[in-house]
Amino acid sequence: MLEPHPEYPNLFVHTHPAIQHKITRLRDERTDRHAFRSLTRRIASLMVYEATRELPIEPVDVRTPLEATTGVRLRGSITIVPILRAGLGMSEGVLDLLPEARVGVIGMARNEETLEPAEYLANLPRNLDAGPVLVLDPMLATGGSSSAAMAYLRKAGAADMRFLCLVAAPEGVRRLLADHPGVPIHAAALDERLDERGYIRPGLGDAGDRLFGTG
Ligand code: PRP
Ligand code: URA
Repeated sequence: MLEPHPEYPNLFVHTHPAIQHKITRLRDERTDRHAFRSLTRRIASLMVYEATRELPIEPVDVRTPLEATTGVRLRGSITIVPILRAGLGMSEGVLDLLPEARVGVIGMARNEETLEPAEYLANLPRNLDAGPVLVLDPMLATGGSSSAAMAYLRKAGAADMRFLCLVAAPEGVRRLLADHPGVPIHAAALDERLDERGYIRPGLGDAGDRLFGTG
């Protein structure tokens, strides 16, 4: 079971060697678009297993070919919310484990000068309070985009949120701890710092551009 980070009680870093191996390949500038996409999906799929360990379950009757017994099922309706664009790269990986989840989207574009996020789209299922909401974005830099997305989701009714990212900067972790203290952050890596352009160092570059072939 994952322990919270010693400095940040809201942060869980997924140190599994298979995840770390893939994160290193993702950082590599020689990793092409096709590999970048499949690594992003695969890491998300590995992370969601631990990130959802505490999901609520309820008992359910089931009849095997031999007799009746009691099993469990996930309680409520799970929703995943990728933050556009780059969060889309993680969503299929999460759906590998939770194929029945509902999917909403929030579009956030970070202004490259001011680093402030601007929301440009939201399309969410109703009754977000019907179960856990998993918010996805590979990059947690200043935390502006994910904090704004979570504030939007909270207003829309989300009560139980978890955030999954691939690479986090300390600045973003602290921002989410201040703005959304009850939301656990699951990250594959906690990097050193943000640079003057708001990029995570050492990071992996611009996740959206590497996933979608822009930039
Ligand atoms: C990137 C990234 C996050 C955000 C992180 O998105 O995917 O959403 O920046 O930065 P922050 O923590 O400082 O807000 P971007 O706005 O570049 O859009 P994209 O996903 O369309 O590339
Ligand atoms: N967004 C990215 O895609 N990469 C960073 O390093 C920071 C924000």
